[in-house]
Amino acid sequence: MKFEKLQAPKGVREYLPPESQSFEWVREQLISPAKAAGYQLMELPVFEDTNLFTRGVGESTDVVSKEMYTFEDRGGRSITLRPEGTAGVMRAVIESNLDRGQLPVKVWYSGQFFRAERPQAGRYRQFYQVGIEAIGLDDPALDAEVIAIADRGFKNLGLKNYRLEITSLGDAQSRAAHRVDLLKYISGLQLDEATVARAAINPLRLFDDKRPQMHEAMAKAPILLDYLSASSAQNFAKVQSYLTDMGIAFTINPRMVRGLDYYTGTTFEFIHPDLGAQSGIGGGGRYDGLMETLGGQALSGIGFGLGVDRALLAAIAESTVPSQEFTSDLFIIPLGDESKGQALTIASSLRTSGIRTEIAFGDRALKGAMKAADKTGARYVIVLGESELRDGSVELKRMSDGVTSSVKIAQLQDELQRALAL
Ligand code: HAM
Repeated sequence: MKFEKLQAPKGVREYLPPESQSFEWVREQLISPAKAAGYQLMELPVFEDTNLFTRGVGESTDVVSKEMYTFEDRGGRSITLRPEGTAGVMRAVIESNLDRGQLPVKVWYSGQFFRAERPQAGRYRQFYQVGIEAIGLDDPALDAEVIAIADRGFKNLGLKNYRLEITSLGDAQSRAAHRVDLLKYISGLQLDEATVARAAINPLRLFDDKRPQMHEAMAKAPILLDYLSASSAQNFAKVQSYLTDMGIAFTINPRMVRGLDYYTGTTFEFIHPDLGAQSGIGGGGRYDGLMETLGGQALSGIGFGLGVDRALLAAIAESTVPSQEFTSDLFIIPLGDESKGQALTIASSLRTSGIRTEIAFGDRALKGAMKAADKTGARYVIVLGESELRDGSVELKRMSDGVTSSVKIAQLQDELQRALAL
């Protein structure tokens, strides 16, 4: 009987060797600036109570209304695969009272997120983000630091062609003043029912409507930046001046609409023009009301999520990905069962001292094993047969030029460390 092959579900992105090495590199480059700034890891569940997202992310968003992977668990609870990370972080912070300690709470996270979007290049149903959240303080210097950390991550990748767009969604007072005029403006437009419903929950969403007629209709709509309260305007000016002081270039995009409803104050996006339609490589902003909406204190926070998949595509587009093939320092070819035992022991002790060691497995003839060693790009090779075990010494072969030298097995580590340092 022949079994049918199975395929990965539609729209998921997975990383296999050797590409997975590049992926790992990108993820580490993106998050290392946060670690250096004192952010600590938060490892959270990939599924949560559905209410967390409907309440936290907002029902007017596509993410909640169209793209959630929601199911009932065996206990009849409504569960959703996390479409983003901020709401879960906030839930965990509230639940474990982290916000009662030192502020701001500074955390980073990394992992899979799930949105049932139409798959295309750079847009997946399971994708990867690294992100940070700084919770509990409202300080424009913190806004600037968060943006700078994201920017440093992209610079770590060697990216040059991206741009940073920022805006301010103001405080509650600014948004209320703007909302009155925006709703007035919107009421003068001919809109379908669904759009009217969306506008009623969050009229800003209409700025993000991709349909050309809507784009045109919204071109003359009042802009929130023109309604900023004095303190919001002052905050935003400070963020800009801090960024300028740090040498971080940005443009102001007053029409930016983030895909999630919790944003207030400073909001930002990183755009990479080489990626076509899915050009957002990262984004974030401040969220004044989120913690309270989720049952916690009225504390503000700010953070970002960077798309690891898209950052990798950007790094590929700019040819900045270093060669990531794993090459071992030493390849051991054991001949016979007794030698295999020895090879395992030697390899494990060499690896503890940082020497990358591989073993030829199976019972291949010497010639085939040598070929395998060559293919892996190993820098040195030893053959471990009966006579080598008897003499306690091996021929260490340098693969670049074939030069060999006789080395005592007991000295192998020292000898290799010396040779590899050259
Ligand atoms: P977001 O803008 O929805 O923000 O997502 C952040 C990044 O994740 C995007 O810029 C993009 O690079 C990547 N991304 C989003 N959806 C997909 C997809 N379907 N396929 C591939 N990549 C994708 C957030 O998620 C917020 N939680 C960020 C944040 C943290 N704001 C404050 N704190």
